[in-house]
Amino acid sequence: MILDSLEEILTSIIKNIYDVNHINLVLTNRSDLCDYQINDVFKIAKENKLNPIIVGENIEKAIREYPNYDKYFKNVEFVKPGFINISLSDNILNENLNYMVNNPKFGLKNSDPKVTFILDYGGPNIAKPLHVGHLRTAIIGEAIKRIIKYKGNDVIADVHLGDYGLQIGEVIYAILNDHKKDEEITLDYLNEAYPRMSAICKENEDIKKECEEITKKMQDGDLEYNRLCDIITEVSLSDIKDLYKTLDVSFDLWESERSAYKYIPTVEEILNNKGLLHESEGAMVIDVACDTDSKEIPPMIFQKSNKAYLYGTTDMATIYDREQKYHPDYMIYVTDDRQSMHFKQVFRASLKAGITDTTFEHKSYGTVNGPDGKPFKTRAGKAPSLRELLSETKDIFISKKEDNVNMSDDDINKIVNSIVKFADLQNNMANDYIFDINKFANTSGKTGPYILYTYLRINKIIKDKDIDMNILTNEIYNKYERDLKLKLLEYQNVIDSAFMNRMPNYIADYLYDLCVLVNTFYQNNHINSLDDTIKQNNWIYLLSLTNKLLKELLNLLAIEIPTEM
Ligand code: ARG
Repeated sequence: MILDSLEEILTSIIKNIYDVNHINLVLTNRSDLCDYQINDVFKIAKENKLNPIIVGENIEKAIREYPNYDKYFKNVEFVKPGFINISLSDNILNENLNYMVNNPKFGLKNSDPKVTFILDYGGPNIAKPLHVGHLRTAIIGEAIKRIIKYKGNDVIADVHLGDYGLQIGEVIYAILNDHKKDEEITLDYLNEAYPRMSAICKENEDIKKECEEITKKMQDGDLEYNRLCDIITEVSLSDIKDLYKTLDVSFDLWESERSAYKYIPTVEEILNNKGLLHESEGAMVIDVACDTDSKEIPPMIFQKSNKAYLYGTTDMATIYDREQKYHPDYMIYVTDDRQSMHFKQVFRASLKAGITDTTFEHKSYGTVNGPDGKPFKTRAGKAPSLRELLSETKDIFISKKEDNVNMSDDDINKIVNSIVKFADLQNNMANDYIFDINKFANTSGKTGPYILYTYLRINKIIKDKDIDMNILTNEIYNKYERDLKLKLLEYQNVIDSAFMNRMPNYIADYLYDLCVLVNTFYQNNHINSLDDTIKQNNWIYLLSLTNKLLKELLNLLAIEIPTEM
């Protein structure tokens, strides 16, 4: 808001002397010199065939002569070779902060028009324990969901369970061969049977074929296999739901590969009517390559030669179902980057078939590595399940400080979540990142505990203090206060960029910057011992506003605040 209206004013001032369309105001990286700067001097000089120094001097003069100069600016200065440094008046800075305080969502504008999103994240697989990769989609997806909603849009979160693939056939094979009764199909049994079968199938082609056969029969409707699949799903799902509850991640829909099966015949008919399916080496495929592709995009396999349907088939059937029910404007998938080709094929095939006209986005993420730069392993040296990762994080956090042992389970859980979530969310999701529990469990540095600790500390300072709104003034007393206030004013821009790019790391970075500035402000201003009650009142007010923002931002990242640390 501050940037927009100032850009307008500055553009209109400069338009009086030069032929310009729009002036860009950017936050300065020299906060010791000014708040914002205009970097367009060279451009204007070039376009008007003039000397940049003359242009810069003229712009400075024109702004200084602006009738409302004092209202908006504290200082405006041309600096060679081509920058206009701008410092805002205390008045306008505070006015903008007041605007934030007095408006819902701190003045953030809703998306216009409001649109509907389907967000596909989580994607756990029935009967297989969730692994570290599933942590990333849960954490990133949940944050993207909250950001989209916060901008006033509709968003439907679908977990899209993997519940009808080969892993189920393998577990059914184990149940039958182990002669397990229904009530013996427990979580412990699944946790033992799946890895055992998966290893056996890698060695033994015959058993693998049998498992594939079972899977195929189940998909074709075999009653007994589907009954067993129901039991496996029920057992596995209660564990999965429990894990998501621990992570404070939630879904509106619990649709799955299996629930999409009933739409396959309709999609197949549409494809056939349009002549899009053709045979290739016994399989039925859809061509999705384009002339403009820089590398080869192979056809999407719709049905294998043994008549089985695949991952892409159920994804297309799901897309058909979603379009019929919700007409989403956007469909976003959050998975690891190894699925990029899969989604490219599915998106193209679906648009070609005309089963949707949505805008597809695949938000892919990289691998979680350990401090050695290789895929993350536990202290025992194996790739951990998600539960193992959380419990190891908990142990390390507790071992950091004696007092931590006495914290409530609920608080510890919230801090563990903050550790894993903030470690992940501060990265550009497309990149791999290094999860060093020891580092991320610290209360200093760019970590979840640091952010939470800052919030709680400020809360303690302002807790019993009353703010007298009648004696608030528009004065800014020093640089620490000014830096913090300027940062607070970035709120809307940060959320808008996070929303537009679907990148929660913008919010994580901003949260951290705010915490650093508010800590510096507090350390350099001895608020509690001030004699000047007006100043003290202003500063308590500023701290309370900062904490309100921190709380809102933490909520967008689904990081909950413990009662104490
Ligand atoms: N179950 C898949 C996996 O574990 C992820 C599912 C993603 N969503 C989708 N619609 N394909 O990799």
